[in-house]
Amino acid sequence: MLIARISMRAASLLAAGLFAASLGAQAADVFGFIPSGGRTLLAKTFAGGPPADEVKALLAAKHTREEWLSYLRSRSKAMTGLQKLSEKELLTLADYLSYNMPLPPAKIPANPARVNWEKLLPPDGRDFTLDYCQSCHIVTVVITQKRSKDAWLGSMNKPSHIQIKLTREQRDALASYLVLNAAIPIDQVPEELRAGGATY
Ligand code: HEC
Repeated sequence: MLIARISMRAASLLAAGLFAASLGAQAADVFGFIPSGGRTLLAKTFAGGPPADEVKALLAAKHTREEWLSYLRSRSKAMTGLQKLSEKELLTLADYLSYNMPLPPAKIPANPARVNWEKLLPPDGRDFTLDYCQSCHIVTVVITQKRSKDAWLGSMNKPSHIQIKLTREQRDALASYLVLNAAIPIDQVPEELRAGGATY
């Protein structure tokens, strides 16, 4: 009897915990509409378990964005995860690789099958947006704008933004991600990120 009551209590605590966890997951999902950046796209590609040599060759190569795009197209049989990416995702990934590859030799894993790629890979433009672009105004100010790369860099170099702790190269990579993935129509932005707008 007592045992039964204790385990009921444990069960309801567990249920409450699961409920809270699912609320947490929902809260994180508010940003789900912002397109994946290269870190996530590459992690997904590698999750398909491509041959270790393919992975290592990719991580050690240096190319321009255009070269990466044709490289990725040419490797889609060996790295089948690539076949699941849309044209825009492929371009976003090529763009990311042009900024982040090659990885320093010490970061290239000996056994790619046992790596947490989300952690190992450098942050992408989406990461920068979420980490550095919402402390003064709502992220909507950023991800709904359609701009050229120069216009993005211009905003980021204004007095209001110059203090943000992103290096020149990171700003460049962020601007490049935003050219490809911002300009999100307002009706695709969740309600709670629409009202209020900027607080500056
Ligand atoms: C330290 C506070 C602060 C942070 C952090 C910040 N902003 Fe802003 N942002 C402002 C202020 C203040 C304005 C309005 C005045 C202005 O435009 O300079 C603004 C306005 C903007 C605008 C609209 C006007 C314009 O300049 O085009 C854009 C776009 C923008 N921010 C992009 C970004 C991006 C991208 C990031 C992340 C890299 C970011 N902001 C992070 C303070 C900030």
